[in-house]
Parts: sequence; C-alpha cells; structure tokens
Amino acid sequence: MTDAPQLGFETLQIHAGAEPDTATGARQVPIYQTTAYVFRDADHAAALFNLAEVGNIYSRLTNPTVSALANRICALEGGAGAICCSSGHAAQIMALFPLMSPGTNVVASTRLYGGTVQQFSNTIKKFGWSAKFVDFDDEAAVAAAIDDDTRAVFCESIANPGGYITDLPAIAAISDAAGVPLIVDNTSATPYLCNPIEHGATLVVHSTTKYLTGNGTVTGGCVVDSGKFDWMASEKFPSLSQPEPAYHGLTFGAALGPMAFTFHSIAIGLRDLGMTMNPQGAHYTLMGIETLSLRMERHVSNAQKIAAWLEADPRVAAVTYAGLDSSPYKDRVAKICPRGAGALFTVSLKSGYEGCVKFVNALNLFSHVANLGDARSLVIHSASTTHRQLTEEQQIGAGAAPNTVRLSVGIELADDLIADLDQALAASA
Ligand SMILES: Cc1ncc(COP(=O)(O)O)c(C=O)c1O
Repeated sequence: MTDAPQLGFETLQIHAGAEPDTATGARQVPIYQTTAYVFRDADHAAALFNLAEVGNIYSRLTNPTVSALANRICALEGGAGAICCSSGHAAQIMALFPLMSPGTNVVASTRLYGGTVQQFSNTIKKFGWSAKFVDFDDEAAVAAAIDDDTRAVFCESIANPGGYITDLPAIAAISDAAGVPLIVDNTSATPYLCNPIEHGATLVVHSTTKYLTGNGTVTGGCVVDSGKFDWMASEKFPSLSQPEPAYHGLTFGAALGPMAFTFHSIAIGLRDLGMTMNPQGAHYTLMGIETLSLRMERHVSNAQKIAAWLEADPRVAAVTYAGLDSSPYKDRVAKICPRGAGALFTVSLKSGYEGCVKFVNALNLFSHVANLGDARSLVIHSASTTHRQLTEEQQIGAGAAPNTVRLSVGIELADDLIADLDQALAASA
C-alpha cells in the first residue's frame, strides 16, 4: 500500500471530499435534496443511531452534499473533522456549544465583526455564558483575562472591519498554557491565506457566506476541529470527557478520540439546535470553493493596489490595510498570512461623516451593502448603517468612526475600481 500523495491547495479545493457519485456516476457533487435515508434493515438503523456505523439518518444531522462541503473545508484547513451549519453566526454557537455550560466564559478579542461582539455581549448571556473582551495585541491582558471558568479563547485571523492581523502563535501559546481551546474565525482570510491550525488553533470557524462561496448567494457556516485538543485532560469539558446524558451516556472523548468534537456537534449540536446547512446552499458554496485560490490571489493584488492608491490620495486621512508598509501589522502578514493581507480594510475620509455619505452614494462599481467577500466590490458606511445606534466613542472603538468606510475589494479590474473611487472621492469633497 502506498501513502496517498500530498495534494496541493489548488487540487484539494476542487477534489477534496467528493468522488464521482457511486449511484449515477455524476462527476459534480449532486444536490441530495432529501430529508431522510432508507435504512437497510433494523440492525443498520440501530448501528447508525449508536454511532457504531457512520451514515445518513436525517438531513438535520447529515446530508451527502453538505458532508462533501464539510470534508472539503476540513481538508483545506488541515482539520480532523468539520460541521457545516446555516450561517457564520450559527457556526460560532456550534463551536462554543460542546465547550460551555452556564457560568463559563469565553475570552474574546475586541477586534471582531460587530455582529459577533453583539452575539457574545448579549445573546450568549441567555445560555448563562459570558464573554470578556480584551485587546489581543496585549498578550499579558489576554493571559490575565483567562480564569477558572474560561472555556475558550476567540479571535479572528484577519479581523473585520479593520483588516488587523492577530498574532495567532502567541495567542495559541497562552491558550495552551491555560488548557483552553483557541477558536479562530478565519472568514476574512480563508484557508488560502491563513491556516490557523498550523498556528496552534484548536477550532476554526467560518462564515462560508463570504469568500468561500464568493458570489453573494447563500449564507452558511462551518466549524473545523483540528482534532488535537485533549478533552479528557481536565474536567473542564464534561460534555466531551464525561458520560453525556444527551446521548445515552456516551463519553465522546473516550469513544471517538480526535473525532469527539465533530461527532458531538452532529449527534447533539445539530440534532438539538438544528442550525443545519441545506444541500442547495452547500452546492453554491462547493461551486465557489473550486476557484478560491484564484479569486483570493486577485482579491489580494487588487486590495494591495487600491490601498496604496488611497493612502497616497490627499482626500484620504487613513487606510488600515495590513499589506501597506505603513501598517503596524505589516510584519505579521509575512508570519500569519504570507500570501497576503486579504481584501478587507477601512478608509477614513478628510471630508468626515457627510463626505462618507456622499462617497458611498456616488460609487458605481462598489455596492453599498452589509456584506463582504463577494467577487464584486462592496462598501459600507458603518456609522450611518450597522453601527448607527452606537455612541461616537463606541463607533470609533469598533473601527466604524463617522468618517470611516469599509471596503471589501472584489476581483474586477483594479484600474476600473480606482477610477470609481476617484470620482466618488471628488463627489465627497
Ligand atoms: C468575520 C465574520 N464572522 C462571522 C460573520 C457572521 O456570518 P454570517 O453572516 O454568515 O452569519 C461575519 C458576517 O459578516 C463576519 O464578517
């Protein structure tokens, strides 16, 4: 028997997780539009429910199209197992669910997508969980924030909206020393630009809504488990290390080893929370992932060119792109995401709040939407939209100051995008 060859990213993004369909020979992954799967006999049904045999029972738990996508993202991230779910926000709850119980907390970066700050500040309190927000550039503060009730550390690799880069190996070392898993939201970077597991992450979460799908069609999320965390090493994670009452007393960590998190998430998380991805959605994302590396290369080269052009423009006050020489995060790009700093950053205009409003109104190729990671270029003026309920101080803290817009640079011709930005800046002055 020979070892399977180590395939490159560009090959895996097309082939991983899928074989020609055994029933029909279909080359592309079919959309298995079915709710349930016929058991061979009663013994087969019992084996599936006992997790003695792997197979499909009901599409709230698994579906072959969705599984192909989960396995493909898992391969690209270098994980042991993965679970797809209905949105990026669902993926975050799915990642925390096996780890947390009432009274426990997650130590989270202050530089997170605003929706995640909201989810962690208010909504998770309804489960009895809480979050402590810390500046992840202050490593001592991260270490100090972890206490006996901390069950996870959470950050983004390239943070939305500012495009800041997290020093993942440093944060992973702090999490390891404290015996808690590091969860990294890799949405803005994608596995093409950054592999959080290589840098020490335990779990990687994605909003597949963004670059992985890449065409702005469907919402989705994914949790990838590195399979490297020893859940049995302490009593902190009883859902994985002790008999689980929600699954007839199975001790997932002992029975399933590196697949414990994945099986728990399917057998209990998806079964009981029901935040399942649908096969149509998985199909769109599978189509998108086939071209991920090509799109990310173009996103990065466009973003680099546009950020440099904006920075040199006298109408612009500041640009946060980490790929610029002026960025304090420039050195981290080489270490954390050597293929580039992504395509998401903020731009502050000298013309202030009113100028930003005129600027987004005047843009033609950039669409003013609450989204990122589309093939087409997007812009949002957060202070007048998503962050308008916040005080000015809160807006500034969130990277959404009144004079700031966020760009998600697409894969159009860079010169066309620059011409559009130029005329909109003229209109904003
Ligand atoms: C970095 C990041 N993580 C998570 C999410 C949430 O994803 P979804 O909108 O798919 O729930 C978003 C959404 O914008 C995001 O930008």
